[in-house]
Amino acid sequence: MLIARDISRRFGRTLALDRVDFEAAAGEIHALIGENGAGKTTLMNILAGRVRPDSGEVSLDGAPLPAGSASRALKAGIAAVNQSPMLFERFSWEENLALGGFDTSGFDLKKVADRSRALAERLGFELPPTGASIEQRSVADRVRLEVLRALSFDPRVLILDEPTGVLAPSELAPFLDLLRRLRGEGRIIVLITHKLGEALAVADRISVLQKGRMVARTIAAKTSEAELARLMIGQVAISVPEAARITATDAVALKISDLFLNRDGYRVLDDLSLEVHAGEIAGIAGVDGNGQTELVEILAGARRPDAGDFSAFENGSRGRSSLAVIPETRDQDGLVLDMPLWENLLLAGPLLSRLTPRGWLRRAGAIALCRELLARFSIRAPGPDAPAAALSGGNRQRLEVARAIACDPRVIVAHNVCRGLDIAGTAEVHRILSAFAAAGGAVLLISSDLEELLAMCERLFVMSRGRLRETPVAERDPSRLGLLMAGHWK
Ligand SMILES: Nc1ncnc2c1ncn2[C@@H]1O[C@H](COP(=O)(O)OP(=O)(O)O)[C@@H](O)[C@H]1O
Ligand SMILES: [Mg+2]
Repeated sequence: MLIARDISRRFGRTLALDRVDFEAAAGEIHALIGENGAGKTTLMNILAGRVRPDSGEVSLDGAPLPAGSASRALKAGIAAVNQSPMLFERFSWEENLALGGFDTSGFDLKKVADRSRALAERLGFELPPTGASIEQRSVADRVRLEVLRALSFDPRVLILDEPTGVLAPSELAPFLDLLRRLRGEGRIIVLITHKLGEALAVADRISVLQKGRMVARTIAAKTSEAELARLMIGQVAISVPEAARITATDAVALKISDLFLNRDGYRVLDDLSLEVHAGEIAGIAGVDGNGQTELVEILAGARRPDAGDFSAFENGSRGRSSLAVIPETRDQDGLVLDMPLWENLLLAGPLLSRLTPRGWLRRAGAIALCRELLARFSIRAPGPDAPAAALSGGNRQRLEVARAIACDPRVIVAHNVCRGLDIAGTAEVHRILSAFAAAGGAVLLISSDLEELLAMCERLFVMSRGRLRETPVAERDPSRLGLLMAGHWK
């Protein structure tokens, strides 16, 4: 029996886990479900000794585990498989397994390969030929390799963090069979997932995390998708956007037509079309990893779709320069942290051309614009010369929104723009976006925060497996939205 008692863990202002109890028994598949940010990965990391809890303890078969030691947790029999496979692309699978997995004394690849094959055969899947790099392998192969690596330690407990998120539908059934076999061997399997159907299909029991609290533990055979969706989402304030916010016009500002994107033989975007009107805030809800990031990359011009197109319109005519995109991974894509704030403004194409007429940089103009934005958007910063690194996360986010607006776009696409902001910072960004829409701009807000979208958006779509589904205001109840987010489109 794997038991975690009274686990709490805080990251800065975020209470990721709040006095959580969890238990899973031998010969059981236990699904751990919850929305994005519910604390699932943190709980896995604590169980596997990778993260030290602030309080609480973990025990396996009655023996307490030392907190925060991954190697000792592994020795005690707890192995965890990460959400994204961590494999060396240029290496073969047997090299990957030899590097962290099977007994590597002497780096005897033949021995590793033989033992891997024996294990894989017992588990009912086939391994590719040895010697070839894994670059060309499918996602399903990679996930299986990770599982194989974890199993090479012959663990008593196997925890898998959303392993099926990346599998194509046809790869799912064999994978669930694999989990059943492992259960049959008397192991404890903890399956983290946000797919309710999958949890119901394969798990014996299901635990539900909601915003860091364990809100339910139930027997799979005695619950339903609707109940699980309700538990997962919890009390959501179902607000209708204020009348004052509804300023949509008939003019199409952003038109996305029939986008398709494939990767590893898997459809990331599946015939996605959407129109956003001037004066409107449209929202896309969904669990992360359903194509949102790729959609944003396409709109930012950083990725080409396999088919389909999009246009931003200005007074009826096309113009991509009138589209500003605020990507999710801000510190990687958005700001250069050791560059002064005013220079960071120049990273936006329209501002660069405005501030460098005839190729000459108007440094004073850039500094003045920066100062104006800092004041207008209440950004707390030492001054235009300060490096972006000197700003708190919330102020960096505001700066990015401010920079997007300073480009004078007709359309703003913002992805998880308020993630990590405190309440005041969130309200401020919302106010800025609302004002932009009220003045005739169009906003496409892509977020995994349902509450935010419900409060902000006149039209709301749910994205699942690369497809979009509109949800009229009348359909906006938590369990219905939960089912849609989990990929049930009925
Ligand atoms: N290393 C970290 N630093 C800061 N915040 C973190 C860290 N890990 C997790 N969090 C925060 O803790 C909360 C729970 O995250 P996580 O356990 O990853 O949730 P889930 O796996 O359910 O999506 C989130 O708000 C997340 O932003
Ligand atoms: Mg996670």
